[in-house]
Amino acid sequence: MIMNRPIITNIAPSVATLAQLYFEADFIREVDEGRLGRAIENTSRWWCLHTEEPSDVIAIGRCITDWARYACVYDVIVRERDRRKGFGTYLMRQIIVDLVNHDIDTIHLWPSKGKVAFYERLGFIALSQEQPVMKLNRDLATKAMQVDDFSVIELSR
Ligand SMILES: CC(C)(COP(=O)(O)OP(=O)(O)OC[C@H]1O[C@@H](n2cnc3c(N)ncnc32)[C@H](O)[C@@H]1OP(=O)(O)O)[C@@H](O)C(=O)NCCC(=O)NCCS
Repeated sequence: MIMNRPIITNIAPSVATLAQLYFEADFIREVDEGRLGRAIENTSRWWCLHTEEPSDVIAIGRCITDWARYACVYDVIVRERDRRKGFGTYLMRQIIVDLVNHDIDTIHLWPSKGKVAFYERLGFIALSQEQPVMKLNRDLATKAMQVDDFSVIELSR
């Protein structure tokens, strides 16, 4: 049940708010303010669920998109004390409506552990094992590409 009439805006969170939500979600163990600042700035769109006071952030979500082919939703986080009250679902519904209205071909995300059912209830489907999410392992990449240092790889212009 939604309480206190939360407001949704596209205001980006502050570094401090993002860091706090990341801690609560166990996404980070320490804060690198510069890195978080870059992430905030370079996000295509933020959604922020807050009380009447914009700095009182209940939940956030963001996406990185080209506004045509792909939009990847990241960092859907409800602050710990307000979880399981429907805020996550409410926020995701707004995100989905917003992105669908932008006519983006593929809206996708990478669920954290245990969250597949949450996203399935909103209409997402898991791709088959033949199309798993793949993440670069730097150690394996240095061996596979037979390089010691990524800086040695230069692109010709
Ligand atoms: C995933 C997350 C965003 C969900 O947010 P939320 O606000 O708890 O979501 P909802 O309340 O809409 O639904 C979550 C659950 O609460 C249940 N629920 C909702 N309202 C409820 C109520 N009034 N009473 C009891 N249960 C309720 C829902 O059925 C749902 O069940 P589930 O645990 O089996 O999924 C939140 O758990 C979170 O921030 N997690 C940490 C960050 C994270 O992992 N994010 C996903 C990144 S991909």
